[in-house]
Amino acid sequence: MSTVTAIAPNPVRPVPTKALPREDRYARCIAASKRVRWDIDADVIRGRGFDLREKFLPDALSLAHQLEFLGAAEQRFMGQVQGRTYANLFGLIERYINAKVLELSRDYVFGDQVALEALVRFSDEELKHQELFRRIEALVAVDMPAGYEVVVDPNDVAKVVLSKSTWAVLGLTCHVELFTQQHYKQSIQPCEDASELYRDVFFYHWREESQHAILDELEWRREHARIGPAERDRGVDDLIALVGAVDGILQAQSGADADYFLAHAGRDFSPSEQQRVRAQFLKAYRWQHIVTGVQDPRFTGILAELTTPAQQARIQAALGPLVQAVLTDAP
Ligand SMILES: [Fe+2]
Ligand SMILES: [Fe+2]
Repeated sequence: MSTVTAIAPNPVRPVPTKALPREDRYARCIAASKRVRWDIDADVIRGRGFDLREKFLPDALSLAHQLEFLGAAEQRFMGQVQGRTYANLFGLIERYINAKVLELSRDYVFGDQVALEALVRFSDEELKHQELFRRIEALVAVDMPAGYEVVVDPNDVAKVVLSKSTWAVLGLTCHVELFTQQHYKQSIQPCEDASELYRDVFFYHWREESQHAILDELEWRREHARIGPAERDRGVDDLIALVGAVDGILQAQSGADADYFLAHAGRDFSPSEQQRVRAQFLKAYRWQHIVTGVQDPRFTGILAELTTPAQQARIQAALGPLVQAVLTDAP
């Protein structure tokens, strides 16, 4: 808000002068965070549960409609398994995001108190989101068959991610928080035949994520300004490695989810159909968590500003084949 007074420069990491309006942007994030703040029970869940006759994840994200040998109920079940994982993976990713936000907030402890408040609220919201996704998992587990499991541990993932440079971690986080918004606006919100509770979860999540993506960008640019060319170059390698680590998670979870789907879909599938189910789970997870993000115009715009043509070529060489494979017959 414009009523915020001038902010003392950060003694640890000076604010780059060319980005001075950033102070207002932190203040605006605080104002928006206060305005949209919600409660898990009073606003999101409201005593409701899930109905397995309803869709969870829309076809535009689950890609379940592309498997023509599945009946409508089987496609819906595939979207429900994916929808469960979609919520759980957000909860998992938010563990590392919160750890990084808390780490960054220390830079402001004796300096920019507005930026500090924005990051503290960001952290508080991610803690609440993790609780929301745990609650959703518990509600879904009431009705879906036993045997579902998330095969990666949030703390293990956080340790791997946080071992990489801050430049890369912020790049990955910006990507995640931008695709979160894109998925809600372009796919979940318009999917009127999906579960109301499921849509509400991502409606409320989206409302708080909008501020996070702005803060990710501000912090990514701050880190970019703080470090030199060699560290930025290492950041590019780390970002490529992090996307590879995300893909490893998606491979493991898609395999577990395909097994669960095949075990509980209610009929036998031929070996070639089983193979296609497995491939489709992986393709959908790559579509959701990698491809839609790296194609997001805001993300590509920021990345183009923060990288050299040679670095962009390295990213393209590393990620291009995966993106192309998913896009070959995209929705
Ligand atoms: Fe979140
Ligand atoms: Fe977030």
